[in-house]
Amino acid sequence: MRELINTFKRIYGDKEVKMIYSPLRICPLGAHVDHQEGIVTGMALDENVEIAFAPSQDGYIRISSIDFPDEEYFHIDRVPEMLPGFWGNYIRGAVLALQQAHKLQYGFRAVISGKLPIGGLSSSAAVTTAYLMALIQANLLTISKEELISYSHWVETEFIGLKNGILDQSANILSEDDHLLVMDCQTGEHELVKKSPEMPDFEIVVVYSGVSKALMGTDYNNRVDECKVAGWIVGELAGLERTALQDVKLRNISEEHYRKYRDQVPGKFRKRLDHFFTEKNRVLQGIEAWEQGDIEQFGKLMFASGESSIHQYESGCPELITIYELLKETEGVYGARFSGAGYRGCCIGLINPAYKEQIKANIDAVYPTQHPEYKDVYKVHFCKTNNGARFVDQEEKGKVFE
Ligand code: GLA
Repeated sequence: MRELINTFKRIYGDKEVKMIYSPLRICPLGAHVDHQEGIVTGMALDENVEIAFAPSQDGYIRISSIDFPDEEYFHIDRVPEMLPGFWGNYIRGAVLALQQAHKLQYGFRAVISGKLPIGGLSSSAAVTTAYLMALIQANLLTISKEELISYSHWVETEFIGLKNGILDQSANILSEDDHLLVMDCQTGEHELVKKSPEMPDFEIVVVYSGVSKALMGTDYNNRVDECKVAGWIVGELAGLERTALQDVKLRNISEEHYRKYRDQVPGKFRKRLDHFFTEKNRVLQGIEAWEQGDIEQFGKLMFASGESSIHQYESGCPELITIYELLKETEGVYGARFSGAGYRGCCIGLINPAYKEQIKANIDAVYPTQHPEYKDVYKVHFCKTNNGARFVDQEEKGKVFE
């Protein structure tokens, strides 16, 4: 935080500076179901994207990043086009998202940083939320958390072009420490389920593979389409009213129809169905285990979710599969799976803190040998959970004022 504020003051000379913490997220259960309007779970980590900013009366946006070169600079009335791969896209999208329903008058000057050099914890959603919150503050708008989720999601789907669901934004915005966020991606209803007093303390291991690429360049969108085709086939077999393919969501297929027609659905489409319906049950069982403080059972479900993501959903990449398999055999790991889509980034696990050193040693002993091209960039990191995105009151350091 100090470095960020000092950089901000050095670049812009402002004395007044506002801060936002926008956390990275994990999804313990509910893999690859958000875009099919399933139910997902999420938690925010104590690692944040941080932004130091001050409103600009002239309507210009000016942002420097601690992590990336180049400056982003434009007027809110003349938003530049999306530039594939450029970090500035998220502010461009954020301005356009808000302008759909709000008149923006003010811009801001800012410095942004994301501490972990780690992909797969949804730093893009965290960054977008941070920009949206800065714009909301600068323009004195009042916006609900639900609206914030939908604007942040709009940037990802409509501006960037990823066909994802609302998992990342929901976990980033709604999470509360010591709670499991349960989000129904169809109705938008959500619940924060408090950690049971019976549950032993846990921490989160984040094992970064070193593989970093944009999800847009992976099979992510193809899998989403395969889910739609799978749902469409079941709909046909069941004689349901036909909808446009892009509107098909597996959530709208009943468990009964799935069981009845599953065997007639060919190859990979059947696998996508199997993943969706088994994951649905794992989420429900996981919520129960969480409520009872049964971390062992919760962890087993996470491993099973990982297994299904690899074999039924057929997502992942060799590096992340190595890490998942390693965590599965490591003592002290209750449960683990890909943090996000699995095509890059990291695996996460819920762990017993007493085993931290052993867990790290285990990964260090195998991963760099199996994937030597990443030996200098992979990382084993331990985190705790924390609250969702928030403004930080500068004068009373660390106090949340929203
Ligand atoms: C990525 C996407 C999310 C979600 C996960 C998989 O993180 O951004 O919307 O689909 O993958 O669960």
